[in-house]
Amino acid sequence: MLSAVAGAVRFVMVAIMTVVTFITPFLGKKEGKIERKAEECKAAFAAISDTHLTDSFIRLGMFEFGLQDMAEATDRLDALVINGDITDHGYPEHWQAFTDTLLKYDISDNNIMVLGNHDTWGGDRTGDYTKENFIKYSKEATGREIDNVYFTAEINGYPVIVLGSQSDHTGPTFYQDQLDWFAEEMEKASEKGLPIFVFCHQPFNGTHGLPYNWEMEKDADPTEGGIGEHSDYILNICNQYKNVIFISGHVHAGLSNTEDGTNYSSVEKVGNVTSVNLPSYEYFDVLRHGHMVNGTGFVFEVYDGEILLRARNFATGTWLENYDVTIEIEK
Ligand SMILES: [Fe+2]
Repeated sequence: MLSAVAGAVRFVMVAIMTVVTFITPFLGKKEGKIERKAEECKAAFAAISDTHLTDSFIRLGMFEFGLQDMAEATDRLDALVINGDITDHGYPEHWQAFTDTLLKYDISDNNIMVLGNHDTWGGDRTGDYTKENFIKYSKEATGREIDNVYFTAEINGYPVIVLGSQSDHTGPTFYQDQLDWFAEEMEKASEKGLPIFVFCHQPFNGTHGLPYNWEMEKDADPTEGGIGEHSDYILNICNQYKNVIFISGHVHAGLSNTEDGTNYSSVEKVGNVTSVNLPSYEYFDVLRHGHMVNGTGFVFEVYDGEILLRARNFATGTWLENYDVTIEIEK
């Protein structure tokens, strides 16, 4: 009986999601193209997460609404970062559909793909299979030549470090090679004296309403929904440096801040580190109290003294100023 009720609830949820996915782009009127707030902006990039693409035209269409918004930016973006769960299962046909769609739009010369847990679930679900596909489609979709699921990049000179799971679990698996590499790259990046952007699909354990937001149970395992075993290790490395911005996705929590009735925020401080949890682009958030419509993410604008995080519904081409955050850059 219980499973029948759960099945019915699930069916209704999926039906609502499908309807909302269709109507979201028509909910808001276009209120201005993407443009920088001030000329002094040193770098501007869009960051979205959890597009969960398959070959479904609904999902691809929703993705395209956002890509079109970015491609029509008045001020061309310096980068687009898609922070994991790009595909729903990491099958080659999912990667190909993503690639074909992204290539239709001229957004920036610096598109960056990040591996999410769903992207590791294709084929034989081994790390090698995932790595091979991720490297192949990173080149085909973005022109980026990488040799692993973790790599470095730059956005207008600002250092970017991308972490990626080396196995297929929901939480990431980091082998010692990646952990050692991360420590070395953070040290190198810090020598520039600029903010460092670290992208990892999963957030630190216990941040952004975790583990409750993942398990919906008050006594959930504290590591649920987060990086898991190596969370503190990675956080400790990040905490050794100034102006580290750690950007995750994975939670599907929507945009949130404490002013909208939620008791957690999309952007929070974890020690010295500013932790940004991106909403799911594909799925809307029905269980919480924040901005639950899908199609959202942030435009980051980097200035000499601060970083503006400008919340945007890319699908509707609408700014969501209630969720904007300014991060002061420490001298
Ligand atoms: Fe996801």
